[in-house]
Amino acid sequence: MLIFQPEGKRTQAVEGKTILDAAKDLGVQIQSICGGRGTCGKCRVIIRDGRENLSKPSESELRFLSEEELDEGFRLACQAIILRGRKIVVEIPPESGLNRQRLLLKGVERSIALKPAVRRITIRLKEPTLTDQESDVDRLLDAIESKVGFRPTISYEALRNIPRVLREGEWVITAILWMDREVIAVYPGVRDKPPYGVAVDIGTTKLALYLLDLDDGRVLASASTMNPQIPYGEDVISRILYIMEGEENLERLHNVVVGAVNELIDEVCGKVG
Ligand code: FES
Repeated sequence: MLIFQPEGKRTQAVEGKTILDAAKDLGVQIQSICGGRGTCGKCRVIIRDGRENLSKPSESELRFLSEEELDEGFRLACQAIILRGRKIVVEIPPESGLNRQRLLLKGVERSIALKPAVRRITIRLKEPTLTDQESDVDRLLDAIESKVGFRPTISYEALRNIPRVLREGEWVITAILWMDREVIAVYPGVRDKPPYGVAVDIGTTKLALYLLDLDDGRVLASASTMNPQIPYGEDVISRILYIMEGEENLERLHNVVVGAVNELIDEVCGKVG
């Protein structure tokens, strides 16, 4: 059993893994500027129990840690390899952790002409008659074409809903257009709610996300977090080196950042209800 303090998170102590890798797998954050290559000395942890279940201090640990520190149980998390799957208690001192920080989200807003990828149009269609038996889809696409000057394609999801939506809205329909190319959704009648969009700033250390009203460009809510790729390397070069170590590492870095963006989207949506 491997236990990380002060969070108290625990996992199986897997032989052959480093403390740093086990922490990453568990979502416990430890500073690792060099991405675990033993060259930055930032991943210092204190082994509170089970020292005998770890490998002997490596050369880089002897370089970065004094004799007293080694006696006190200090190790570099990226160098300490689990030799036996027994109990190991690891304390992460505050200077080695990656605590959530207050991030700057506000800046100077400039007014720009909006050209969002998604926009809505509301159209009243002619009802079919015995002499006008055009299909619902063509009726809608003809109306869009005469209103905006182009004929979009239509997504399968929107296509399935057209007959119901047209009748529920008594032949008034709000269509959501993507890139002025494709109808991606349809709603009965006049839809008051604006389309929403998110702007995401993925920085090396921070992620910032803004929820926007795409009708007028207003920022409705914002949220931020530390970039979860940091434990894999604090700078871009370290992350590139990490990716070069194995194809699965690219996927891992991709997944952690996508997961964090999705969490931020949930957070901003929760803020505006
Ligand atoms: S020495 Fe850099 S992560 Fe361990």
